[in-house]
Amino acid sequence: MTQDELKQAVARAAIDYVVDGEIIGVGTGSTANFFIDELGKIKDRIKGAVASSEATATRLRGHGIHVYDLNDVASISVYVDGADEIDAAGAMIKGGGAALTREKIVASVSGKFVCIADGSKLVQVLGKFPLPVEVVPMAGQAVMRKLTQLGGKPALRVKDGEPVVTDNGGHILDVAGLSITDPAGLESQINQIPGVITVGLFAQRGADVCLLGTSEGVKTLT
Ligand code: A5P
Repeated sequence: MTQDELKQAVARAAIDYVVDGEIIGVGTGSTANFFIDELGKIKDRIKGAVASSEATATRLRGHGIHVYDLNDVASISVYVDGADEIDAAGAMIKGGGAALTREKIVASVSGKFVCIADGSKLVQVLGKFPLPVEVVPMAGQAVMRKLTQLGGKPALRVKDGEPVVTDNGGHILDVAGLSITDPAGLESQINQIPGVITVGLFAQRGADVCLLGTSEGVKTLT
C-alpha cells in the first residue's frame, strides 16, 4: 500500500468515532484532509465542525460542512488529527503543517483525541522529527537562544526565502537534535519561555486513541 492509501484507510476508520448530531473537531495536514473527504460523505449525520486552520476550514466548507467559530461552541466530543510523530503513550510531535496552536486549542476542549497516522509516524522516542515551536516574530532570536540551551538546534522555518507566517501571525522554529525522553516535562519547559506561543509537543494532552495505518491493516492503540 502507498502512504496515501494508508492515510486514507485510517481516515475511513476514524469515521467510526464520529458522534451523530455533534460538532467534530478537525485537524490539519494531508491525513486530516483525507478525513475531511470522508466526513463530507456523511455530512448529513453531523451538525458541523470546528477547524484547526484556515486551510481545514476551506476544505470543510468545500464539502458543504458548516464551520463553527470555537467561541460559539461549549465543548467538542471528538477531535481527529494527524501527527508528525507519536509514541506508544500517545504523546505526539505536531506542527509540521504550522497549525499547532489552533490544533492544541481545539484538542484542549475535546473529550477524545483520535490520532490518525500512517505507521511510519510511530516512534519509541520523540525528536527525530524537528520539534515545531510557534513564536511571536520579535522574540524569534531570544527563543532560539533558550532552545539552544536546552540542547536543540533551532532554525526559522522559511518558504520561498521568507519566514513562514502562521494563521495567528506567528513564526515557526523547527528544533532538531532533541531526544525527548520526558515529553510532558519538555512541553512545560518550552511553554515557559517568553515569546513562545505554542510548542508542538502534545504530551500533557496526548492522543486517547491512535489509528495507525499498516500493511496488515489499521491498528488501534489506546
Ligand atoms: C499540522 O500542523 C500538523 O500538526 C499535522 O497534524 C502533522 O504535520 C501531520 O501531517 P500529515 O498528516 O500531512 O503527515
